[in-house]
Amino acid sequence: NKKTVFLGIESSCDETAAAIVARDVDGRGEILADVVLSQLEEHAAFGGVVPEIAARAHVEAMDRLIAEALARSGVALEDLDGIAATVGPGLIGGLIVGAMSGKAIAYASGKPFYGVNHLEGHALTARLTDGVSFPFLMLLVSGGHTQIVLVRGVGQYERWGTTIDDALGEAFDKTAKLLGLGYPGGPQVEEAAKTGDAKRIPLPRPMKGETRLDFSFSGLKTAVRQAAQGMAPLEDQDVADLCAAFQLAVAETLRDRVGRSLARFKAEGLAADQRPALVVAGGVAANSAIRAMLTSLCDRQGFAFVAPPFKLCTDNAVMIAWAGLEREAAGFPADGLDAAVRSRWP
Ligand code: KG4
Ligand code: ZN
Repeated sequence: NKKTVFLGIESSCDETAAAIVARDVDGRGEILADVVLSQLEEHAAFGGVVPEIAARAHVEAMDRLIAEALARSGVALEDLDGIAATVGPGLIGGLIVGAMSGKAIAYASGKPFYGVNHLEGHALTARLTDGVSFPFLMLLVSGGHTQIVLVRGVGQYERWGTTIDDALGEAFDKTAKLLGLGYPGGPQVEEAAKTGDAKRIPLPRPMKGETRLDFSFSGLKTAVRQAAQGMAPLEDQDVADLCAAFQLAVAETLRDRVGRSLARFKAEGLAADQRPALVVAGGVAANSAIRAMLTSLCDRQGFAFVAPPFKLCTDNAVMIAWAGLEREAAGFPADGLDAAVRSRWP
């Protein structure tokens, strides 16, 4: 069973990552090495990712991480079949570091180079981890993205909904910041919410009931700020109640938006034998209240709920290597060494 082996490189935000992934002729994947270096500590003092610091940190770590991924996998550079690097969307400085590293290795070794869209990486991960077949629906909720995407095939993506203002992870981070919790805020809001009363403070459910499948979270964050100002000075219990109310508002908003998307997906007509799947990706997918809500929603509507392991839901290079492998297997040509990096890439 011949295997194709790719090196993947990711550097679009605040994770520097390199991975070696194999794919057999039946489409089964195997992770041979997965190395991720988070820059969280470099950015924590600023309460968010600082692009210039991120780019410099990628430069410092990249060579070492690629060498480490190769060493851990036991695969020699000559035995790679291709190199895939994220070329967008993301922070341009980091993208340049990863793309140039990948292109340089491709040039020196004579291997093909694939420039991968970061979102395509997230979209195809569930095929590696769970063998999910096309078409499926993906909910991507991270610090930078909030999207509902119908994945019809490799290279065939329909964006059904996106945020018109803040990304969901960003809303968690900003809410945490205004309540005096640390960065990144998602895990801290979840923790504080455990002892909170979600019903004490009424908050809006933005976009609920609208037929278009978009999201909006900036008004929700503002509502938390106003409620917090009305309660100042905040006791620990107030913070917990605000976090619980925020998390419930988010979960109910997602239930509405995703529920509508599942119904629309089914209405499009599925093969009789197909159990459709909802796949989640992005750091916010770690939130257990959100997971529980999505699980019960999928149960009710007859969908399989697929959540790849957390490490592969957040930014990593396994998904980039895998997207390159999927593109190659689907017959897409390799990209030239002149492939451009793009900070925005719808
Ligand atoms: O996918 P990810 O690791 O990275 C990028 O977006 O680059 O997502 C990070 C986001 C942050 O906004 C973080 O606050 C959020 O995911 N997050 C969470 C939780 N864990 C991480 N949000 C809510 N609940 C969590 N448990
Ligand atoms: Zn991402």
